[in-house]
Amino acid sequence: MVVIVALLSSLLIFSVIPPGNALSLNYYDKTCPDTDLIVTNAVKNAVMKDKTVPAAILRMHFHDCFIRGCDASVLLNSVGKNTAEKDGPPNVSLHAFHVIDDAKKELESLCPGVVSCADILALAARDAVVLSGGPNWYVPKGRKDGRTSKASETIQMPAPTFNISQLQQSFSQRGLSMDDLVALSGGHTIGFSHCSSFRNRIHNFNSTHDIDPSMHPSFAESLKSICPHNNKVKNAGANMDPSSTTFDNTYYKLILQGKSLFSSDQALLTSPQTKDLVSKFASSQEAFSKAFVKSMIKMSSITGGQEVRKDCKVVN
Ligand code: HEM
Ligand SMILES: *[C@@H]1O[C@H](CO)[C@@H](O)[C@H](O)[C@H]1NC(C)=O
Ligand SMILES: *[C@@H]1O[C@H](CO)[C@@H](O)[C@H](O)[C@H]1NC(C)=O
Ligand SMILES: *[C@@H]1O[C@H](CO)[C@@H](O)[C@H](O)[C@H]1NC(C)=O
Repeated sequence: MVVIVALLSSLLIFSVIPPGNALSLNYYDKTCPDTDLIVTNAVKNAVMKDKTVPAAILRMHFHDCFIRGCDASVLLNSVGKNTAEKDGPPNVSLHAFHVIDDAKKELESLCPGVVSCADILALAARDAVVLSGGPNWYVPKGRKDGRTSKASETIQMPAPTFNISQLQQSFSQRGLSMDDLVALSGGHTIGFSHCSSFRNRIHNFNSTHDIDPSMHPSFAESLKSICPHNNKVKNAGANMDPSSTTFDNTYYKLILQGKSLFSSDQALLTSPQTKDLVSKFASSQEAFSKAFVKSMIKMSSITGGQEVRKDCKVVN
């Protein structure tokens, strides 16, 4: 009797629960075949007007995937008493939401209610990399959009002050390995950072050192002149690397020279496994590209949503 009940309930579970949000390359082939193309065009148009768009979109996708899975929760606006992720503390770097909205508008007119905002963001992140000169890949699709976005949950994002064990924990909680950590951190080959994100390394580092001794001294001085102790310049900061609009392996070369911005970047040298990978990627653009694509597909396959939003800024 017990056996039969157990058998029945397991059958019931299998029949009620669909086989997850299985992603596939041909997900929209029948329902909205031009999905990839439309997103690519929207990103292309935006990049022509604003060179900061690719970095913004890549960062936005990472942020999305690390909170509630890649469910476009980062795109939702605050409503009533609920403050959304985009109005939470680590939002200084978030912008270019209009690019996703442009693609969504076009897709809604062609195939209403079909393409999720989470898929648009994942595709746009790929396009951002390609348009910056990085590797290309096919993006699996079929993500669903979530119905919840809370500013309080942005505390779950890894902080730039994190050491290697904190980074490892943050990534492993999401099924990502140390190898994924090193490869995905390569996203910092493009973009810009505000002073607040690396201030800990250049002022009052600890009680014996004003500057983080792992930072190259002249690099630290140049950052201090951009970001003085009593910084009054709004939006002051530094480019991630001198070729900050080009997706290449410079980021890893800079880490080896003590010229990366964040403690979390420099921390990749503090474990043998991650240090070896940093060296490997610094000497081989191809090895980096291959690893980055593999890890991006892994990160962007963390799913979490339930619906296909009509407007990326509000739940249905
Ligand atoms: C490993 C943990 C990570 C930490 C602690 C981290 C932290 C940060 C911080 C603090 C900023 C600067 C925000 C600002 O001051 O404006 C930033 C920017 C950025 N991050 Fe990360 N990040 C991490 C991983 C990633 C990943 C996995 C990606 C994508 C694959 C990524 C892509 C970017 C990009 C492209 C920017 C530049 C944004 C812009 O210029 O608009 N980051 N990150
Ligand atoms: C960041 O959050 C503040 C409020 O917390 C908000 O005024 C600002 O518009 C947000 N920035 C972005 C880019 O959403
Ligand atoms: C990282 O930081 C945490 C929290 O401050 C600390 O407990 C841990 O010992 C540190 N790990 C390393 C490897 O420094
Ligand atoms: C300050 O940081 C340096 C480099 O990490 C370290 O060698 C030193 O022991 C630290 N000092 C204190 C008081 O923690």
